[in-house]
Amino acid sequence: MTDQAVQTPATSNPAGHPERVFSGVQPTGNLHLGNYLGAIRNWVPLQDQRPSIFCVVDLHAITAGFEPDLADKTREIAAAYIACGIDPKKSIVFPQSRVSAHAELAWILNCVARIGWLDRMTQFKDKAGKHKERVSVGLYAYPVLMAADILAYRATHVPVGEDQKQHLELARDIAQKFNNDLNVPGFFPQPEPLILGPTPRVMSLRDGKAKMSKSDASDLSRINLKDSDEEIAAKIRKARTDPEPIGGTMEEMDARPEASNLLGIYAALAGKPKADILEQFEGAQFSTFKNELADLAVSVLGPIRQRMAALLTDKAEIDRVLEDGAARARAIAMPILAETRKAAGFL
Ligand code: TRP
Repeated sequence: MTDQAVQTPATSNPAGHPERVFSGVQPTGNLHLGNYLGAIRNWVPLQDQRPSIFCVVDLHAITAGFEPDLADKTREIAAAYIACGIDPKKSIVFPQSRVSAHAELAWILNCVARIGWLDRMTQFKDKAGKHKERVSVGLYAYPVLMAADILAYRATHVPVGEDQKQHLELARDIAQKFNNDLNVPGFFPQPEPLILGPTPRVMSLRDGKAKMSKSDASDLSRINLKDSDEEIAAKIRKARTDPEPIGGTMEEMDARPEASNLLGIYAALAGKPKADILEQFEGAQFSTFKNELADLAVSVLGPIRQRMAALLTDKAEIDRVLEDGAARARAIAMPILAETRKAAGFL
């Protein structure tokens, strides 16, 4: 996807920088089951393998307009990380806006990234649609800020979903071009995507062909991490299905997107392969299956909601945790930023 021929180095980290994980979620809208199963849940085991940084990307959140209650939404995402099992003592959890290196490095990288590269970003094309002339410059530059997030820590491993892979490719290209143009081989390592296990694409409960999304007009389409047990159960009972009982081969289920989605959600929540769940419920009516799924979903999500709520009763304590995270993040990013300034030739 590069304009210049960019050579892939023999190793993605020739200078042997220490390994580090970086990922983030935007504090916009409501966190839902898709965010949990597709992202946050999968981060939990990573913190035992490598030093990990989990950021609440509030600077990204304003690219589509200033968010009302941005500070509270930021606290909410942080509480969700912790409630899902991220340990803020082991990992670094902080708001992006509290570490100025992100914005500063993004500017330098804006001057490395090419317009032609950004023009190819499918997420921008989807988000801007027909309004390309009227969306913010920030929305266009969004992937460069994401590259800065990663490179500010020389992160080597980035857990992302399918939809962010193109942005990660861009981050690799930006790192490579910086290293080449400024003749500092290995200065930034090439961040590797971490594609985590058999993560299902969690689809809308109303339309098996659309992704579960915080922007869907129908709240019945998604299970929010804040939903009560009753809401979770009701949404699952009302989820669209077809009249056939569960059964057939995996391929046959794939042709029934709503049915397949519910099976996938069950499998992910149970931590088992989807084929096992298909076998377990072979011949069952969806009414029966949905009751089982509702019980399972409540048993997994109920305790998370309760832990989140408990954390959010003490804002001062969350803010203290986030400030501690920001200080530890700065301690890593600031020296790298200083080296970057030097490599770029600033006074
Ligand atoms: N763009 C990512 C998303 O919407 C969030 C994000 C911002 C991110 N910066 C990042 C993810 C750095 C991984 C690494 O999902």
